[in-house]
Amino acid sequence: PGLPSILKKSILKVGVPKEAVEFLFGWVEGRGGYPKIPEAKGSISAIRSEAFFIPLYELYLTYGGIFRLTFGPKSFLIVSDPSIAKHILRDNSKAYSKGILAEILEFVMGKGLIPADEETWRVRRRVIAPALHQKYVAAMIGLFGHATDRLCKKLDSAASDGEDVEMESLFSRLTLDVIGKAVFNYDFDSLTNDTGIVEAVYTVLREAEDRSVSPIPVWEIPIWKDISPRQRKVASALKLINDVLNDLISICKKMVDEEELQFHEEYMNEKDPSILHFLLASGDDVTSKQLRDDLMTMLIAGHETSAAVLTWTFYLLSKEPRVMSKLQEEVDSIIGDRLPTIEDMKKLKYATRVINESLRLYPQPPVLIRRSLENDLLGEYPIKRGEDIFISVWNLHHSPKQWDDADKFEPERWALDGPNPNETNQNFRYLPFGGGQRKCVGDLFATYETVVALAMLVRRFNFRIADGAPPVEMTTGATIHTTQGLNMTVTRRTKPLVVPSLQASSTLEVEPSVSP
Ligand code: HEM
Repeated sequence: PGLPSILKKSILKVGVPKEAVEFLFGWVEGRGGYPKIPEAKGSISAIRSEAFFIPLYELYLTYGGIFRLTFGPKSFLIVSDPSIAKHILRDNSKAYSKGILAEILEFVMGKGLIPADEETWRVRRRVIAPALHQKYVAAMIGLFGHATDRLCKKLDSAASDGEDVEMESLFSRLTLDVIGKAVFNYDFDSLTNDTGIVEAVYTVLREAEDRSVSPIPVWEIPIWKDISPRQRKVASALKLINDVLNDLISICKKMVDEEELQFHEEYMNEKDPSILHFLLASGDDVTSKQLRDDLMTMLIAGHETSAAVLTWTFYLLSKEPRVMSKLQEEVDSIIGDRLPTIEDMKKLKYATRVINESLRLYPQPPVLIRRSLENDLLGEYPIKRGEDIFISVWNLHHSPKQWDDADKFEPERWALDGPNPNETNQNFRYLPFGGGQRKCVGDLFATYETVVALAMLVRRFNFRIADGAPPVEMTTGATIHTTQGLNMTVTRRTKPLVVPSLQASSTLEVEPSVSP
């Protein structure tokens, strides 16, 4: 018999209660052979399905907060437990890299802030984060308002002509216009024009999304790049975007050189408040590839995410007329027909809760990707270096263990006078912008951007799913898209809707009032 069992017998002999001895030895023996991570047998078809985070949710209900999913030689750890997510993202973040994500995005983002390794990231985060200071974000409110106003004009004519509109692509154009101005003072004007550059941005985005769901990296085969028409199109789109970026950088550099203003903490050029202008004024190297990588990263990070948030928010609102009425009442009383200001951002409390709740039900992106750089312990399970990990934000946000009526769109679950929910005050069960050191730098920007657009749109229009529209289903790339668009009928509001009392809300039918 081994030493533990001899020891166990001796301890029992001196009269220590059996239960205590069993407990103690159970623990000691358990440490020797660590528990093994539950293993779910997967098929590649499950993860390649239209929206792969849905089968992962089913597996989570069966296997719990951490499990392994194996496809032939490949395996992934799927994490849906708040304390393990906190450990990976915050408490031991140095032990994790962006793994597969960095590999997929390399062709477009290089070593930009999102995929960057720890060393590059440390330097660049300190340069970039200060550019999104309070004064900058406040200045952006005006930009959000003007861009949304352009969208309103477009919807106005659709309402007059009685034409249905596909909102997902309109939101994508709205947020492209916003991010182009905000990051490098470039007006894509994509809501009105379909120029080559707009098409180039979409070509690159679609490629990044396709690569992220493709199991075989064909684009890595050397000759493929040169003969595949698709890869050639991607290469020329990238070249066009880079040429435009280079022009913008040199125009901006000239402006900065002619300026007299000294650079300081909340520095901002009133004529060009863009992030690029801040970076060049702060002394960033104009010739560096790193600057281009970071600009490209922000263009992509700040575009599709915000568009997806708006798309799913309007979808959710179309299903909950009670929430829409309450939202419209708030917007009518606070901004009416003027453009929103920074002061309004504090007052539009319900609108903010609508966005918070939309981000819970439709997190963008639905999973965060990491790779372990060293051995570690996740909960009770030891893991080795080189594990690919998906933190399923979707699972955290939909877990019946974490939320009452988890699938219900209920902005009221967040107290109006409470703090804005974030990963810290929700103890990592809510991760709309990630958490830890790699948390989104654009969180406040994005919240204001979506609140402004939401407020202005619901003030002017009523929205409903168009008659005969295809069902709104999910598919995924980097963010959650609809499979066939969000087709809506838009009507002008002539007068504010009558807000129902809470009791009556379940039977309420809101009749949109159509303008004459
Ligand atoms: C990172 C979400 C808008 C720039 C992230 C992350 C999330 C996220 C979840 C963490 C990724 C990870 O840990 O792997 C969102 C959502 C947005 C949004 C939902 C819109 C509603 C923006 C905007 C910008 C931006 C407008 C730029 C102005 C970035 C950057 C990072 C990042 C640079 C990388 C930060 C780092 O690694 O240090 N975002 N984002 N995002 N986001 Fe956002």
